[in-house]
Formats: sequence, C-alpha cells, structure tokens
Amino acid sequence: MARSMVELSNETGRQIGVLIDRSGKIDLVIVGDAKQIVIPALTGIRSSGGRLKGLRCIHTHLAGENLTDDDLIDLLFLRLDLMGIIKIGPDGLPEKLYGAHLVPAPVEGRDWAFLEPTVPGRQPFGFDELITALEEEFARLQPLRAVDKGKDRGILISVTTPSRFQSSESNQESMDELVELARSDDIIVLDTVIQKRKKKNRKFILGKGKLGEIMLSALRLNANLLIFNQELNPSQIRSITDHLELRVIDRTQLILDIFARRALSREGKLQIEMAQLKYMLPRLTMRDDALSRLTGGIGGRGPGETRLEIDRRRINDRLALLAKKLKQVSKERYQRRSRRRKREIPVISLVGYTNAGKSTLLNTLTHSKITAEDKLFATLDPTSRQLRFPKDIEVIVTDTVGFIRDLPDELLQAFKATLEELYEADMLVHVIDASNPRFHDQVEVVEKQLRELDLDKIPCLRVLNKIDLVAKDFAERQCREYRAVPLSALNAKTFGPFFDAAQKTIGRLEKSENFVSQISANYEE
Ligand code: GTP
Repeated sequence: MARSMVELSNETGRQIGVLIDRSGKIDLVIVGDAKQIVIPALTGIRSSGGRLKGLRCIHTHLAGENLTDDDLIDLLFLRLDLMGIIKIGPDGLPEKLYGAHLVPAPVEGRDWAFLEPTVPGRQPFGFDELITALEEEFARLQPLRAVDKGKDRGILISVTTPSRFQSSESNQESMDELVELARSDDIIVLDTVIQKRKKKNRKFILGKGKLGEIMLSALRLNANLLIFNQELNPSQIRSITDHLELRVIDRTQLILDIFARRALSREGKLQIEMAQLKYMLPRLTMRDDALSRLTGGIGGRGPGETRLEIDRRRINDRLALLAKKLKQVSKERYQRRSRRRKREIPVISLVGYTNAGKSTLLNTLTHSKITAEDKLFATLDPTSRQLRFPKDIEVIVTDTVGFIRDLPDELLQAFKATLEELYEADMLVHVIDASNPRFHDQVEVVEKQLRELDLDKIPCLRVLNKIDLVAKDFAERQCREYRAVPLSALNAKTFGPFFDAAQKTIGRLEKSENFVSQISANYEE
C-alpha cells in the first residue's frame, strides 16, 4: 500500500493520505497538495470510546521533510491514534515510515513520542499491540473515570480582549462565578483557563496554540466538555467542535441547562424550553447558510439542507405552540393574583443576587420548607407563602429567582415567570449576602436590573443577610452605608429590625391602582 501511495504521489505531485481504523479498514482517502493534506472534520466518525480517536493517519511527504508542526497539531486536535508519514526516497520509492503518537504523560516536555523509523513493510511490532498498550496507559493514569460516571467533566475557559479589558481581578471574579455555575449544574470542574488576547480570533476565539494546550489537558484529565465564559457565535462553536472531540457550550447554554434542570412549575418548564429553542434557532440557520453555500446552484439542494429546513420548521411550530400554552398559563396566574389582590393583602417580593439567601429567609419567615441549598439558582419558580407580621398585618412573600450579571436576553425572557410576580409587589426586599466579598458589585447588578425592568418605582427595603458570618462592626458599617437592616436568614431572633422597617414601609403604602394596571399591561403584552 505504501508503494501505491508513493506512486500516486509521484504521478500527481500531491501528498496522498489515508485514515485507517483499528480493524485496518480505510476510512478515508485524502488528496493534498505538494506540501500538505487537510483532514476534513471527522464529525461523522464516532470515536472508539477510548481516549483516542480509533483512526490513524498515514500520508506521503514528497520533499523528504519530517513530521511537520501541522502534522503534530492534527495528531493532538483530532486525538488520532497515530500520525505517520512515508518519506519518498530519491529513487522515487518509499523510504521509511515515521510515526508519532500521543502519550498520557509528557516525555521530555513533549506530549507525543516518535516511533523508530521503519521500512513500511518491515515493522517490528503490530499496531494493535501499541494502541492497546497506549489506551491502557491513558486509562491507568486517569482512574477517576469510573468514580464520576455519568457526570460531565469540564474545562472552563475565559477569553478576554482589550476592548472589554477588565482588571485581572474582575476576570477572575467572572471565572469564579462560572465555576459556581458549572458546579450548580453538577459538572466536575477540572481546570480553568483565562486567556488574554490582543484580538479575538473570529473563527476559533482562542489561539490555535492555546487550543492545542487545552486539547491536551482535556485528554489528560479526561474532560468531555469545554465551557466558554463568552458567548460563542455559531461558527465559533462549529469550528471548535470540528477540531476538537469535545462538546462545547457557552455561559448562556450553561445557565439554560441549569434552568432546565431546576424548573418545576408547568410555566417554568414551558418558558425554559422556549428559551432553549430560541437559542438554538439561529445556530441552525447558520449551519443551513454554510450548507447552502456548499450546495448552492441548480440541482444543488442537498439532503442536509432539507433536513435542516424541517428542523427549523419544527422548532418554529413548537415555539408557536409553547407561546400559546404560556399565554393560557399566564392568564390563569393573572386571575389567581387578582383574587389575591381583591383580598387587599400586601405583597412583598424577595429579590437579590443568586445565592444571597432569599429562599432561606422565606423559609424562616414563614416556617416553610422550600428548596434552599448552596447552589446557584436553586429557586426557579416563584413561590408564595403567607406571613403574619407581629403587628397583625398579613403579607404574601414571594421568592423569586436570583439575579446575575450579564444576563443574556433569552434568559431575561425565561425569567419572566418570576419577574411578573415582581410587578405586583407592594414592596421589594433586596436580600444582600454580606459574607460575599463581591457583594458591592452584586448590589449594583441587582439594582441595575431592577431599574431596567422599571421595578425601581416600588419601595425597596435592603436587608444585609448572613451577618452571622461577618464581624459585627463591619455589618453595622455596611448597613449604614447601604441603609439596610441586618439579619441572619437562618435565625428568626435577628428579624426584629427587619420587621420594624418593613412594617413602616407597608404602613406608608396606599394600595395603588398603578400596580394593577401595570400587570394588566404586562399581561396584554
Ligand atoms: P437562588 O435560589 O440561587 O437565587 O438562591 P437564594 O438567594 O434563594 O439562596 P438560598 O436561600 O438558597 O441560600 C443560599 C445559601 O446560603 C444556603 O446554603 C443557605 O443555607 C445559606 N444562607 C442563607 N442565609 C444564611 C445566613 O443568614 N447565614 C448563613 N451562614 N448562611 C445562610
């Protein structure tokens, strides 16, 4: 076979390559130019289940050059079993086969090892032995796999460019938050990478070299997922997944996934599904465009395009159905609320950055037990409980989903179920987590979002929560600065100042018709 490949190369003046699977079958023949071959995206080819792709690439080199950097990059990116070249001797015959394969632990600082050059027809050992030994070695060095079965194992990446150049501190903060998000979604975080780039690479977002490094650590750590802190455009996702055998998602998708897991109510579920489909739609469109470009022209309609058109139509149909269902649910909710309103009970809504302690506060206030856990976005559905204030005012307290910075538009829409409750509130209670070193920023984020949602017209009482975790004088200072009342949501004994302040605020309130018209406007919309 080496001889045939060399003959063809000589005839055409082009490199000829083959991809061979483990059974020895040739999967693909590639015709290159004089200097290189380009391995196409191997998306249709399932990996063998091991750490390596289950395919080896062997190609000819015309000018007697050694394995090039591009060859090694392909080896890394595509997780090939082996990258081999056949040099052509001056006599026009195959000279020797030079090969390189990945290694589980770096050897002399390199992540690959070279094989002894051999005459193609006279190799001293079988390829099967080599690849079995290698797979065993990869598995031995990563015994974690069985233990964490079923969980995603991710590497988190943040790429920053000067245009949005933030201080390295805030880059770190944003990464810390991504780690928290990933943890909330039951993902094992293996590594975090922050890369500063002068300029974003439109296609890869990351430099090729950096991508290679990440690929390697993914291989060593047995990752199956890359999560980018930046929103990726569809072509970036595709070009990365074409080059890497990993799932790639961005922050928005991660948050959507968390939502999808946590939503409990019918309305919540409908809304999340809608947000996910809306997020998917433009990504399908892009793929379609790329395909049309490939298959354009008369008679050029490939089956792929038709398939995508069907997908797109299905999604649009589904979206229309979801919108209809949601309208119905939202109507029921509105009627429920109107009944509540007729009884003239003031409504208090808890808002606050995610994980600030809203659910805990609601639980302690009303002695109820709704989910409160140390995970981001534990609450996804608005929950209402009745609370009797010490001085006999009855209020309804609703707990709403947390706020988070850079909330993508799709998600704001998905939040609507919880946000609608807010428009009806007579008073907002902004819960602040005093123990979080970044709480100043968090207060900003929440209040900015409240302003954007036109909710800043509603009286808002700030409470500084988790005071059990901070020094007393610190809490006092912050309370003065933020005009907040201190409490620990875990301990009802600390609620005195909160009740006083809340009672004052509610006492000042007249039941305003404004709110009612605002909800109706909202509902009409
Ligand atoms: P989301 O649902 O993500 O928006 O969070 P949330 O604001 O509802 O927060 P949650 O009530 O779930 O509380 C988050 C974590 O903080 C939980 O582990 C609580 O036990 C903890 N926590 C809440 N309040 C206090 C407090 O006063 N002191 C201490 N030590 N921990 C608290």
